[in-house]
Amino acid sequence: MVVPGSQHKMYHPPKDLQKDAHVPDFDRYLELYRKSIEEPDVFWKEVASDFYWKKPPTGQILQYNFDVTKGNIFVKCMEGATTNMCYNVLDRNVKDKNLGERVAFYWEGNSPAHHEAITYSQLLGQVCRCSNTLKQMGVRKGDRVAIYLPMIPELVYTMLACTRIGAVHSIVFAGFSAESLCERIMDSQCSILVTADGVYRGEKLINLKQIADEALEKCREKASATVTRCLVVKHLRTQDADVSNKLQTPWDAACDVCWEEVMGQVSEQCEPEWLDAEDPLFILYTSGSTGKPKGVLHTVAGYLLYTSLTFKCVFDHQPDDVYWCTADIGWITGHSYITYGPLANGATSVLFVGIPVHPHVGRFWEVIEKYRVTKFYTAPTAIRLLMKYGLDPVQKYDLSSLRILGTVGEPINPEAWHWYHEVIGQKRCPVVDTFWQTETGGHVLTPLPAATPLKPGSATFPFFGVEPTILNEHGEELEGEAEGYLVFRRPWPGIMRTLHGNQERFESTYFKKFPGFYVTGMGCRRDRDGYYWIAGRIDDMINVSGHLLSTAEVEASLTDHGAVAEAAVVSRPHTVKGECLYCFVTLKDCREFNRTLVDELKRRVREKIGPIATPDFIQNAPALPKTRSGKIMRRVLRQIARNEKDLGDLSTMADPKVVEVLFNHRCETAS
Ligand code: WT7
Repeated sequence: MVVPGSQHKMYHPPKDLQKDAHVPDFDRYLELYRKSIEEPDVFWKEVASDFYWKKPPTGQILQYNFDVTKGNIFVKCMEGATTNMCYNVLDRNVKDKNLGERVAFYWEGNSPAHHEAITYSQLLGQVCRCSNTLKQMGVRKGDRVAIYLPMIPELVYTMLACTRIGAVHSIVFAGFSAESLCERIMDSQCSILVTADGVYRGEKLINLKQIADEALEKCREKASATVTRCLVVKHLRTQDADVSNKLQTPWDAACDVCWEEVMGQVSEQCEPEWLDAEDPLFILYTSGSTGKPKGVLHTVAGYLLYTSLTFKCVFDHQPDDVYWCTADIGWITGHSYITYGPLANGATSVLFVGIPVHPHVGRFWEVIEKYRVTKFYTAPTAIRLLMKYGLDPVQKYDLSSLRILGTVGEPINPEAWHWYHEVIGQKRCPVVDTFWQTETGGHVLTPLPAATPLKPGSATFPFFGVEPTILNEHGEELEGEAEGYLVFRRPWPGIMRTLHGNQERFESTYFKKFPGFYVTGMGCRRDRDGYYWIAGRIDDMINVSGHLLSTAEVEASLTDHGAVAEAAVVSRPHTVKGECLYCFVTLKDCREFNRTLVDELKRRVREKIGPIATPDFIQNAPALPKTRSGKIMRRVLRQIARNEKDLGDLSTMADPKVVEVLFNHRCETAS
């Protein structure tokens, strides 16, 4: 890695941010980074010394094998030490740090009228009650608990209660279907399901209990019902008295337990269960490129160290911060950077159950003003959505409290980056583009806001303890400026330990292709300053006449055009070039799709990347097919581009109607 040069326009950290920062400049970053690589045990022991250990770590901190040719793949962090996650994120803050009165969460409802502040000591009390409730329902150390809840405080209570008693939570995003919930419950053999009566998502009323019941019914049909009891939060009934008329909550007294009733009957004290550092903490499912979702397993101590340190450094956490991550806890971003990382640091966060465009398109900015949010973390898809509405909804609110902005989930195109930086951050706030995965547990490539000069669109450099490298097709390491497969040479404490119940799939998915490395499945470029640029999934790399092209790069050139709101590029077979580019573009409101625009877009891509990248097809896409978490479903787009009518499983798609519209606008011949 070299110290950044000046080949691209760079954005340097603001001086005022550097003053009290945890990592105040690039030299300090390099120094700490070297230490984390050369003396990992010393480095992580120091991080561990901030936390409470019932039995302190001794011996080697990290042990591992990343080489399938030498035996089973494993990672262990501080094996033999004992601790408890919940104790560290709650009791330690309340008792040892005297933060009991500090607000842990400002909960903000779907409507601005519903909100609540929860202090650390209140949180601890609720978590202990929930722990006792789960115990009363028969949950024991090592049991799996399925959680299907919206973004309400009870979701945090339940996940932390599991960690307090040593149960393993498996949270299923409350936008998933009954089928997906059933599949996940069965795979991890959960004994209890925790859900709610319902939730409002914007105007839409969702009857969660009914979906949960359907899921349990499906589990029974498949003859492997493991869930014996269902704990139900009457969330909507307590929020909104009228809802009873609209919402029929099915109830089976033999199975269902009412949260509000039992929570009042149990004690507010609960001794934590002391767990081994390597005991399982949670399972979280992530979609596999084929078939069944993968149950990514994280363990107690390594995940605690890693999420707490990344949160502290990447958002440069300060005691007076109000932090807001807009992700859902149903995804890894919410696990690591709404619950565990922030609480481990005694942070104050916003917990938001709403959507960005309800009751109006300025909702995010309204919430930032309301709580004087200082650190804001969201996804490029949300930024692009909100960009479409122009400046008015932003300018109505005071965003002067903001100090750091973050993005996650997909490559951020330069146009969205600049809008975020200029309009939201008012050029004052660094944008941390954090690259990571469910599997990595926390950020692995990311800027540090007071230390790293930014290049829009680059996730910049590795976090402490992370050693990235780029390989070519033959598994040879590439030095300097290079493009190829992004892999990691060694583990960091927060990396997953296995796929639940499927060590074989774990090894074959991530370690088989290039023995000795964890394979991210991402294409990546390293520029001459050593900056990493995530290029898209390996299967999103397109080989046109022997040249590897990044779909993300082509998309960025397209969205750079003033008429384009969003773009997605896929490959289509081509008789001469092998593959060619097929582009879907969503236009901004009131822009017209016509020949002139198509020519302009082609010219723009040619100009930005080179003649080799000239798209063969540009199709009008009034909307793109997305998962409920907002990820573009490229597989579906590839099939549309190829005119393949059988699209397979579309159950994760947010709005399946999009597909028909796209087929109607399909390009038969080159544009
Ligand atoms: C995949 C992981 C990690 C939290 C959310 C998603 C993509 C994530 C970035 C980024 C480019 C990114 C990758 C990665 N991704 N962050 N900053 N730049 N791509 O977790 O569902 O496990 O998805 O999200 O494709 O592999 P996930």
